[in-house]
Amino acid sequence: MAPSPAEIISTLNSLCPDGVDENDFITRTAIADAAKRLLKRVQTPFDFFFPFAAEYGITHAAIQIFIDLGIWDGWTSAGGGERSLAELVKFANKEVEPELLARFLRLLTCVHFIDQTAPDRFTPTKFSLELGKESGIYHTNAANAALPQFLSKHGYNQIFDATHNPYTQVYNQPFFTRVASDPLYAESFNGFMSAYTREKCPWTEWYDTSLHLLSGADLSPGAGPVLVDIGGNIGVDIAHFLATHPSLPKGSVVLEDLPHVIPSAVVDVKTVAHDFFTPQPEETKDARGYLLHAVLHDWAYEPASKILTHLKEAMKPGYSKLLIVDIVIPEMGATIKQISIDLMLMVMLSGAERLESAWRKLLEDSGFRIIKIWVDPRRYESLIEAELA
Ligand SMILES: C[S@@+](CC[C@H](N)C(=O)[O-])C[C@H]1O[C@@H](n2cnc3c(N)ncnc32)[C@H](O)[C@@H]1O
Repeated sequence: MAPSPAEIISTLNSLCPDGVDENDFITRTAIADAAKRLLKRVQTPFDFFFPFAAEYGITHAAIQIFIDLGIWDGWTSAGGGERSLAELVKFANKEVEPELLARFLRLLTCVHFIDQTAPDRFTPTKFSLELGKESGIYHTNAANAALPQFLSKHGYNQIFDATHNPYTQVYNQPFFTRVASDPLYAESFNGFMSAYTREKCPWTEWYDTSLHLLSGADLSPGAGPVLVDIGGNIGVDIAHFLATHPSLPKGSVVLEDLPHVIPSAVVDVKTVAHDFFTPQPEETKDARGYLLHAVLHDWAYEPASKILTHLKEAMKPGYSKLLIVDIVIPEMGATIKQISIDLMLMVMLSGAERLESAWRKLLEDSGFRIIKIWVDPRRYESLIEAELA
């Protein structure tokens, strides 16, 4: 006999009462996918479309307003806990009408972003508490909404020009130009980037750096660096590398990024402020490994090839390796995370995640030979190990 609606609800509510191991990415993704498929089976077409019209946009706005008012910060710093509306108003760093806040609180309760325990009692969830610690994790942009109009106006073609895309149309400048010119926006982007990179399985756990990088590396004084992290942001990947190899000589690991990023570095290594569209400086030449994590996906074929050409000129034939960590889109079975990032990159940067065939073309055309493609245990990203052709 089919279960009654009450039995279905009770069964669903009893599942995963303590959540699922946060580190078990594959299981979490599979359960979330199954839950989404279940949702589709109980929703009407109207149920499916309504959130796009109302729920998502206004929820996004409410979360951002609470960030702007410093309420998540204040609540988390005060130790979380159950609070009344009047107490939450006091966390705001600006004057705010309590009834306006109450309306947003009702909304955030409906989407389970916070919980309501009594008519005037609210408790945070792990989501709101996290925003109180690191609001950069919530880095969003309004450019996606401009995509339909952009394509309608400019033709239904892929977007490759970094200076002309829905993002530049909305914000009047390319993404990285805006990041470089606005310290608050830079902090938000770096916060998002480091949270996103920390969330991934560290590259050093699935690529044997002792075997493939350190063995054969020249550590003598005057030799090139062991590792240069190109576009390494504030150094999350270098931190993984140093944790794996704590006794490397100082100066043998280099973090390279744009001048406005370098002062925020979280690792004590040699830093180089450099624009990778220009020839690599002397101090990064002849390295054993050049890491490019989530960098080439920001750029279409032409600019990506230019970055690679400058790296090629810096590399020592028969010795240097190129290590690209990025998504390699599978021909079948790509996940929504991989594909939504792919299209978001097109909207924001005129970039793209690539299929293996596109990676091979880009690398071969730019003078490289792929040694091996390693896939991370979560099957999210890959490491393309390459050398000069
Ligand atoms: C998507 S982030 C990836 C950061 C880091 N590799 C990671 O995976 O966390 C791209 C990085 O490229 C840097 N970048 C952008 N344009 C650059 C340029 N012209 N020269 C050097 N770095 C650049 C950005 O500042 C940013 O840190």
